[in-house]
Amino acid sequence: MKNTVVTIQQAKEQGEKLTMLTAYDYSMAKLIDEAEINLILVGDSLGMVMLGYEDTLSVTMEDMIHHTKAVARGAKNALVIADMPFLSYQTSVYDAVCNAGRLMKEGRAQAVKLEGGQEFAEHIQAITRASIPVVAHLGLTPQSLNAFGGFKVQGKTEEAARKLLQDAKAVEQAGAVAVVLECVPAKLAELVTKQLHIPTIGIGAGAGCDGQVLVYQDMLAMFGDFKPKFVKQFGEIGTMMKESFRKYAQEVKSGEFPALEHTFKIDDDVIEKLY
Ligand code: KIV
Repeated sequence: MKNTVVTIQQAKEQGEKLTMLTAYDYSMAKLIDEAEINLILVGDSLGMVMLGYEDTLSVTMEDMIHHTKAVARGAKNALVIADMPFLSYQTSVYDAVCNAGRLMKEGRAQAVKLEGGQEFAEHIQAITRASIPVVAHLGLTPQSLNAFGGFKVQGKTEEAARKLLQDAKAVEQAGAVAVVLECVPAKLAELVTKQLHIPTIGIGAGAGCDGQVLVYQDMLAMFGDFKPKFVKQFGEIGTMMKESFRKYAQEVKSGEFPALEHTFKIDDDVIEKLY
């Protein structure tokens, strides 16, 4: 069944958990889609896990459009959400609408995600008015890494917790169709989830959210640079891949690969004429 902004809202109302994973290319999107994951996020985490930057700040609109196009071609039923990269929406409401529009028109995303709360309510409203569904992202918002002074859990003091709750209500009011809560204490995420009508999708925000999201390289143990506390590794795919690459190298060097079944034939008399 095709996932849409309507079906994810129904899931919240019926108490059904939502699943979201990141993807950045066609093959992975296809695998995730075939596994019946509800939502695929083309995250700006691609800057780190695909492009090797140390944070998400250098990701461009062109990067996002390029990867979103590939994912959209692979996803039949999952709802494809594209991240708005750093400075593609913060600069003005006009930029926000134009760039959100490019992610839909050129990238073929079905929704966009942007980081921030009340301060971007006007942007969310304007993008929504242009018929582009918006997912908001609160808590640890990696594009604000330098303002936070590092990757840290957010909303731990009373003041910070109140601000997060207010931000969540403000983005809902502005028209957001869902909210990602990243690195937020579990009890606070649960409270936000109870107070919102739209679904919350947690990453490092406990089991009380309406859904969960992980970066696929993290959950498959394919990204060894660091492992956040909230990541569960559901498969040792990184190790399996390295072993397979080594085995391939050994077999090429020993002459075991390619074998007869991997080669194409030609009639001997054709070859003999070439000698
Ligand atoms: O960019 C990303 O992958 C994200 C998720 C971690 C939520 O924003």
